[in-house]
This record gives sequence, C-alpha cells and structure tokens, in this order.
Amino acid sequence: MFTNQHHLKHLLRPYHYTSDEHYRAELRHLFHPAWHPLAVKSQLARPGDFLTFDLLETPIIIRNFDGELRAFLNVCPHRHSRLTDRLCGNTEKLRCQYHGWEFNKDGGTGKIPDAKVFRPWDRDNSCLKPFRVDTCGDLVFINFNEIGPSLREWLAPVWDQWQSYGGAYRHSATWEKEFPCNWKVVLENSLESYHIPEVHPHTFKDFPPEDNAWHELTDRMTSFKTVPPNDYAGRMQAWMVRRMGEPVTNEYWHRVLHPHATGSSLDSFRMLQCVFPTGPRSCRYRCIFFTLRGHRKNPLAWGLYRTLKTIATLIAKKVFAEDGSIYGGVQRGMETSPHAGVIGTREERVYQFQKYVLDNTRGPRELPQVEPHAAEV
Ligand code: FES
Ligand SMILES: [Fe+2]
Repeated sequence: MFTNQHHLKHLLRPYHYTSDEHYRAELRHLFHPAWHPLAVKSQLARPGDFLTFDLLETPIIIRNFDGELRAFLNVCPHRHSRLTDRLCGNTEKLRCQYHGWEFNKDGGTGKIPDAKVFRPWDRDNSCLKPFRVDTCGDLVFINFNEIGPSLREWLAPVWDQWQSYGGAYRHSATWEKEFPCNWKVVLENSLESYHIPEVHPHTFKDFPPEDNAWHELTDRMTSFKTVPPNDYAGRMQAWMVRRMGEPVTNEYWHRVLHPHATGSSLDSFRMLQCVFPTGPRSCRYRCIFFTLRGHRKNPLAWGLYRTLKTIATLIAKKVFAEDGSIYGGVQRGMETSPHAGVIGTREERVYQFQKYVLDNTRGPRELPQVEPHAAEV
C-alpha cells in the first residue's frame, strides 16, 4: 500500500550531502528549532546526577537539582572553561572544575571563592546559559531555542505513542557511534525497507510485500507499519508478551519525526534513534533502547523480561551494525557521483524527507534579476 505508483525524483543532489554551506543551513533551520532526545529519566534519577553531551557543536550539561531537571551550556561565564569534562556523574553542587564557581538551578552563581575580588559584581554576565528541557514518557529532551513550540506541541504527531517509552517498557541500553557520512545518509537508510535483502540477509531476510507495508506521509513525519511473519520467533514473542500481561498487536511500527527522531516498536521493545550531524560529512547516531517489562511482578514475568532484554538488545545492536556497514560507502559514492539518482515507490518516505529538507532549508526566495532597460540608463 504505497502512496505513489510511479518512481520519484531524487530531490537532493550530492552537494546536499557534502557542502558546508548546506550543513550550516540545516543546523540553523532544521536542528536548532528541534527538540532532541538525549537521555532517560533513570540516568538522572538522584539529585546531583548529571550527564554531558556535545550536541550540534554545543556542549550541554543536564542535571538533577533536587528532583528538577535543568540543562545549560557546559561553559563557565568566568573564563570559559567547561564546567566539567566528565560524561556523567553525581555532585553535591554544580561547580566549575577550574576555579570552583558554583551555580544554582536557575543558572545564577552560588558560592564564589574569594568573591570580593570581583567587586562590583557583574550579575548580568555571570549566569550560565540555560536551555529548555522537558520529558515525554521516560525520555528527556532538550531544545536550544528560548522560544518556540513546547515539547508536547513538537511531538504532537507521535506524543501518544512515545509516551510508552517508560511504563510497561524499561530502559535497557543506550549506545551511539560516529559515522563518516552526512546525517541524511543514515536517516534515509532508516526510511526504506528496500535494502533489507542486501544489508540484513540474516536478521530481517526480506522486505514485506506491498500489501503488508503501510506508509503515511506528512510534512512533519512519515511512518511505516507491517505485520511480521507468523513464524516461530513471532509466535514465541507473542507468548512472552502475553505471559508478561501485555496486549499482543503483532505490529511493527517505524515513525520518523522530521528532522531526525526515529521511533520503532514491536510488542517486545521500543527504540528511539536520533542522528546528529557533527559536520557535513560526519554524524553521530544514538540509540535509546527499551524492552518490555510489563506490570506483572511474578518470577516468570521477571525471567521473561531478563531474557527478552538480552535477546532484543543483541538483535538491535546487530541490525545497527549491519546498517552501519553501508553508510561510508554511500558517502564515498556521493562525493563523486555524476548521477541524478532515483527513488522507488518502496522508498517514497525518502522522497518525503528530501522534500522536507529542501522546503525548510531554502532561504528567502531571490527576486529575479531584471536587466535595466536601455532607455532608462
Ligand atoms: S572558568 Fe569556571 S570558575 Fe573559572
Ligand atoms: Fe536497515
């Protein structure tokens, strides 16, 4: 059930995967307005827990202040040191690693060693730069812009589904990897099932027939649904899900919220993947993985959860590595390609994504150049 019946134009040119100018336009128009999923609540559960990230050329720190999550630029207003170089930890105070300035949950200064040497105090230039932080289910998101849509408004097309990251599903692993390719190479690969026989011959084996592949295409997102084959693995999963007290739908869903947030799910897991550009030709792909825990507390349900967690995480990491093996070759081809490219109907979500990228990164339309009329000169 594809929406289109004829092949589609490859809207993006190799330039869009290699140029610094286009990369800058994407950062500005696609990524800075977006909300970014970075963590799960359990990683920041205790007061004083913190995580740091380098996100879109910007160092971030997210910290639990007595139960409230706050995010700041990880740069000190004193003399520009990173507040910390650690990736995670727990500290009693948010304190800069260089001279020990302390900061409160609003980003203002607390204790300053030998504070009198800074008289008169310049309050306006001594605060941390804050970022918006909010949660959906157990997922923690941040946003660089002071104003703009709330997380709930931003996630509107997927809000109900992504609430389930948490609840019956428990965070089981987070992993990420740098890839030597433009971020769109990764995202476009996730948007089509056409590569399955070549790239996943042992894990997924084959793509589903068209009558078992539902696509939804909108400006904000695209989705894909299929019902996996009723084979031994499928029946086993359904049995485990039932034993854990949860409903069996036997549906696989894949939703991409433009520009970069991807949620995929079976009854046994929920996965949130997000690709972040780190340059025109490099990106970081981050995966936050949840497995079904269910609400039953008996020993069988606990044992099934432990088994599911091990197997599902292993398979997810294997698929991640299989896809990862192709990105470099795509980028190297892109660097020298003389072709226009073409998109098949099975890949129509790629077309929709490319249209979104073009529509949202074009600057103001240029006025046509009019030659002055000879008589007016
Ligand atoms: S640079 Fe942070 S306290 Fe000096
Ligand atoms: Fe894949």
